[in-house]
Amino acid sequence: MPLPFPVLSAEEAAEMIAHGSTIGFSGFTPAGSPKAIPFALAAKAKALHDKGEPFQIGVLTGASTGPSLDGALSQAEAIRFRTPYQSDPTLRSQINSGKVRFVDMHLSLLPQNVRYGFLGPVHWGIVEAAEVLSGGGIVLTTSVGATPTYLNQAERILIEINSCHPPALLGMHDIFEPQDPPTRQDIPIFHPSDRAGSPICSVDARKIAGVVYTNQPDENGAFSPPTPVTERIGQNVADFLVDEIRAGRIPSTFLPLQSGVGDIANSVLGALGQHPDIPDFEMYTEVLQDSVVPLLESGRVKFASTCAFTLSDDMMRRVYSNLDFYRSRVLMRPQEITNHPEIVRRLGIVSMNTAIEIDVGGNVNSTHVMGQTMMNGIGGSGDFTRNAYLSFFSCPSTQKGGKISTIVPLVSHMDHSEHSVQVVATEWGVADLRGKDPHQRAHLIIEKCAHPDYREPLRAYLAAARKGHEPFSAQHAFAMHMKFLKEGDMRGVSF
Ligand code: COA
Repeated sequence: MPLPFPVLSAEEAAEMIAHGSTIGFSGFTPAGSPKAIPFALAAKAKALHDKGEPFQIGVLTGASTGPSLDGALSQAEAIRFRTPYQSDPTLRSQINSGKVRFVDMHLSLLPQNVRYGFLGPVHWGIVEAAEVLSGGGIVLTTSVGATPTYLNQAERILIEINSCHPPALLGMHDIFEPQDPPTRQDIPIFHPSDRAGSPICSVDARKIAGVVYTNQPDENGAFSPPTPVTERIGQNVADFLVDEIRAGRIPSTFLPLQSGVGDIANSVLGALGQHPDIPDFEMYTEVLQDSVVPLLESGRVKFASTCAFTLSDDMMRRVYSNLDFYRSRVLMRPQEITNHPEIVRRLGIVSMNTAIEIDVGGNVNSTHVMGQTMMNGIGGSGDFTRNAYLSFFSCPSTQKGGKISTIVPLVSHMDHSEHSVQVVATEWGVADLRGKDPHQRAHLIIEKCAHPDYREPLRAYLAAARKGHEPFSAQHAFAMHMKFLKEGDMRGVSF
């Protein structure tokens, strides 16, 4: 039976959207983002700008998106406001030059902040679906993100029905939106595989302004293969976890894992999967990347709860050719559930995220290079780190060919404080910060994790620091950053 909604071209859909609108897009990473309407919106913006007319929108999503959304819209200079996370090079440079206002937000907070009205009205929800039912039920595609909230909060809705994604995805989503305070109840998830909600999003069908049929795969890039450095980081994390199980500090049945974004997180997860002494495990995470597919197939990962299936094309095809297998092993949920503090704490998640830099006190910068230049955003790393059973941060000990030490006297921007960061790992080793005072922490981080080229300067910083409860020197805290900014190399810094 044909759907009772107007069928539109992407251009006709884009025509409905006015300058100044705020749009809530589906998508969490490029997985599940609409592609045709944002691309048409970018073309509309360019045409209007050529005529000297303004056209800019506020873009809310689940997290980052791909070239057809953040890429096309930023190239058309069509974004005035963006939250909560991004990773597109053009958008990043517009954020860093002040052309786009960007609010970096904990991903778990975004849906409730929208409901609370903290971000103003959402004029349009534009979402991708595998199938739409005539009463307004929507089967989402490869992510959930903040889509249920946008569907409920938006004044009007446009839907891209993407035939790249099979309607047989029905059953892989668990849609649950909590009530707002003061009537919020507990979230009934006690194991990663528990279902709390519905397999479909329900929406007021009267708000649906039209549907656009598309056939476009997700735009996830391929991951870089592991390097010797990322393999050593992964091995160090895995060995540490095995020791924790042997010491009885982690149950022998293990605990659910959260694994962050990017190449390093992908490699760490691969190393854990290969380690013979790590038991088969479950994941309660925000993003499933390529490395988890073979682990699910081999049974090393027994179940994975996630917000998005962020896979390269090859891996996506592999999943779709065996969808019944995955339907019983993977659930996709909204970001406010995957990242919810209540559940992260209750399940006892082991969180594993990546840092840009870490200081000798154990504070972590995940977002800003040299304190100033936004990379991607905090994403869900804070949601998990603050509430984890055991929180890891890892990174290579140096960047840019050794010119930058990622272990520094003081982070140039702080996302995660010493109070939440428990274990630090680089390719050189692991610093276990639990129960350590600031002097012990500094010693461990330098001796176990810093690159040998930087250990002497970091020891010299400690020697120059005033010795209160925390070793600290206001005069020298940013000497390594200053040297890099002046000379393009931190090596040879003196205190
Ligand atoms: N100084 C300068 N550049 C740095 C740097 C530093 N201290 N640390 C990293 N970089 C650069 C790298 O050189 C690399 O640059 P390139 O793209 O030009 O090669 C880039 O940042 C990415 O670093 P890389 O080492 O390849 O790691 P990654 O792909 O694993 O990404 C983060 C690391 C921190 C940028 C990424 O994990 C992130 O955005 N994290 C925040 C969000 C998050 O943790 N989400 C997970 C929650 S589930």
